[in-house]
Amino acid sequence: MKFFIDTANLDQIKEAQALGILDGVTTNPSLMAKEGITGKENIINHYKTICNIVDGDVSAEVIATDFEGMVREGEALAKLDSQIVVKLPMIADGIKACKYFSDKGIKTNVTLVFSAGQALLAAKAGATYVSPFIGRLDDVSTDGLSLISEIRLIYDNYGYETGILAASVRHTMHIIDCAKIGADVMTGPLSAIKGLLKHPLTDIGLAKFLEDYKKGN
Ligand code: E4P
Repeated sequence: MKFFIDTANLDQIKEAQALGILDGVTTNPSLMAKEGITGKENIINHYKTICNIVDGDVSAEVIATDFEGMVREGEALAKLDSQIVVKLPMIADGIKACKYFSDKGIKTNVTLVFSAGQALLAAKAGATYVSPFIGRLDDVSTDGLSLISEIRLIYDNYGYETGILAASVRHTMHIIDCAKIGADVMTGPLSAIKGLLKHPLTDIGLAKFLEDYKKGN
């Protein structure tokens, strides 16, 4: 399973990249605003900076909600760097734009996906990635992980190559569960990724090894 970090925070992206396990970055307008990155030019420059830090795919979201606007913005974003993946909202014009970009060989990520039917449409439009938001479903008493399982089943039934990018991952167990189900990618916060490192028996065991080493030296 690929690991993407879901942030526009450069320090966190650098920390994840330095761990050597990072495969890409996802951002969205809210994450940009959280870092104080506003205005078209600043946002574009931020994408370029992120592409220079990481090796993998960097999702850049369009703001337009009409087909022509999405095509215009997406083409400009795709020109920034070969790592850019054009992130499109799961609406009718977003699906049209997804088909347009996939026909042109431009990578896409269909975002704000909350049902298996939406994921099926994204695959039919040739999306590179589909982003089901598992945390936001959990927030409204609906099992987000079940949606990942449903999409896995449907994509496997027909051999769709669209990657299931489990988004809105909130904690470490989400990552483990996505890996068990067979999500192709998960995108989550650095805290959830670093949570995978933790086990008290590792810390106790290492302390004992070091203590015993000192006794003999
Ligand atoms: C996905 O690409 C989104 O940026 C993200 O995962 C949303 O997560 P949230 O529900 O924690 O805001």
